[in-house]
Amino acid sequence: MRVPDAQSVLLTADQIQSRVREMAAEIRRDYAPFDELHLVAVLKGAFMFLSDLARAMTGPVSLDFIAVASYAKGTTTSGEVRLLKDLDSGLQGRHVIIVEDIVDTGLTLTYLQDILRAREPKSLRTACLLSKPSRRQVDVKVDYIGFAIDDRFVVGYGLDYSEQYRNLREIVVLS
Ligand code: PRP
Repeated sequence: MRVPDAQSVLLTADQIQSRVREMAAEIRRDYAPFDELHLVAVLKGAFMFLSDLARAMTGPVSLDFIAVASYAKGTTTSGEVRLLKDLDSGLQGRHVIIVEDIVDTGLTLTYLQDILRAREPKSLRTACLLSKPSRRQVDVKVDYIGFAIDDRFVVGYGLDYSEQYRNLREIVVLS
């Protein structure tokens, strides 16, 4: 069992909260004040980011959830993406923002952007709290990035290892 080490906090709760507030303001500025922003969170990892981002956002906001599986197991990426739960409503004519916890190889996000773009939203952008640029396998566009990080296995603030640690307020490196 991997355990988070107290010395290995990568991002404190305060750092995350402050960056998420900045991201919400940055995103809002890119749209007209009364545009409804439709936030599509990718389960499960993005649930905490979505919750804080949505609360920090001014103006009209609506939410939906989609679930995909990308990792076969543990810490390796299979390269395979499966749709586990689809959205509840259509995207036509809406300003859609995909809300993700992390972009790693980029395979999940590429898949999501392709299937959501096909539903003819008025606009489609992506907000990711974390990015590991050194791991990228495909060149995927991410409009808003919270933190670019090195290739370490991180958990907390929505991210898990075998479904554990999602509830941590901070992001820690597992040792
Ligand atoms: C993680 C993360 C992204 C994806 C990124 O999800 O939330 O969806 O992997 O990896 P990629 O860029 O290499 O495709 P995971 O499959 O761990 O599911 P979870 O969100 O339910 O934890």
